[in-house]
Amino acid sequence: MTRLNENYLKLPGSYLFSEIAKRVAAFKEAHPGEQVISLGIGDVSRPLVPAVVAALHQASDEMGAAETFRGYGPEQGYLFLREAILKHDYLARGINLSADEIFVSDGAKSDVANFQELFARSSCVALQDPVYPVYLDTNVMAGRTGKFENGRFGGIIYLPCIEENGFIPQLPRERADMVYLCSPNNPTGAAMTRAELKKWVDWAAANGSIILYDSAYEAFITGADVPHSIYEIPGADKVAVEFRSFSKTAGFTGMRCAYTVVPKALCVYDETGAGHSLNALWLRRQTTKFNGVPYVIQRAAEAVFSPQGQAQIREVIAGYQQNARVILDALKQAGLTAFGGVNAPYIWLKTPKGLDSWAFFTKLLNEARVVGTPGVGFGACGEGYFRLTAFNTPQLTQASAHRIAGLKF
Ligand code: MLT
Repeated sequence: MTRLNENYLKLPGSYLFSEIAKRVAAFKEAHPGEQVISLGIGDVSRPLVPAVVAALHQASDEMGAAETFRGYGPEQGYLFLREAILKHDYLARGINLSADEIFVSDGAKSDVANFQELFARSSCVALQDPVYPVYLDTNVMAGRTGKFENGRFGGIIYLPCIEENGFIPQLPRERADMVYLCSPNNPTGAAMTRAELKKWVDWAAANGSIILYDSAYEAFITGADVPHSIYEIPGADKVAVEFRSFSKTAGFTGMRCAYTVVPKALCVYDETGAGHSLNALWLRRQTTKFNGVPYVIQRAAEAVFSPQGQAQIREVIAGYQQNARVILDALKQAGLTAFGGVNAPYIWLKTPKGLDSWAFFTKLLNEARVVGTPGVGFGACGEGYFRLTAFNTPQLTQASAHRIAGLKF
């Protein structure tokens, strides 16, 4: 008899976005011909920008010619891409890192999911509530939690992100080994200021903790006091790993390209107290389990950093930011209270009249034919909230805004 990893039995039946897709599919089947608009999963709607498409064509041609064909690439990513990332996202902001501290991958989701395997099973995990489910679920799978009871897993330090603290995680009283922070935040759209993030960096340094910092939505930052990278905070290179992605920045959700920064100054310790480089361990992990991102995709990602690529993606992002304003206005007209949408593509609204998150989901789907994400799917503190995304087209966003503004509660 082959035994399973029983930690999987602790998980909710299905991944949040699969559950939503299932319910929407059932609704569409029951209402054929009705236009359902999705402001649900954070998937982009605008096509790749011309600079990226040109790079894809050129790289494809190279793959078709004997002199320029490439097989396996470096697991960590081609140097041309790592250097472009380094120059544009770090050196240009006065952050001193080197190309061998950057690891190109097929997605921030997979990196953030995989990274936890470098830490001891006994490590104590802290994370935001509500939270992007991947941080939590992967630690459940790894056996770092107890059972799921009353909306919470035993053994996890939850950091409530609620209206009273502006949805910003506050330092816990207990020590944690690993802390997941996401800013700008998915799902609440809140973004930490430099001063707020500095508190976390100082806390991690004082406690010997590692921060797993997800900044996949960095491109949406508008506030001058919101850091674009955790390494803008002095000392962060000794306590933080940073996850970034081309998905939301440049429309790569279907292309798959992201990167993770693991500074060489970061150390983890064995049972004798001897330190080990986290960078070396991640390299060891990636070279064993990963064969790199396709050459053509990496060339496409490199093109994001060209002057044309930058101008073109800025325009796309500005369009999504405009969508966010349209949604916020519609919610106001409907008499609803909403947060986020300024430094992030996510709008976090308070469900009215005591409706719970799933009841609001059903009402929105039935009465407005609009799909969103129930806040409770992101954690107990998300109950009574609901997430909308700004990633649809301007036309469909306008149409959904019109439908939402006309809702009666
Ligand atoms: C979301 O809707 O939260 C995102 O699409 C999640 C992701 O990027 O995996």
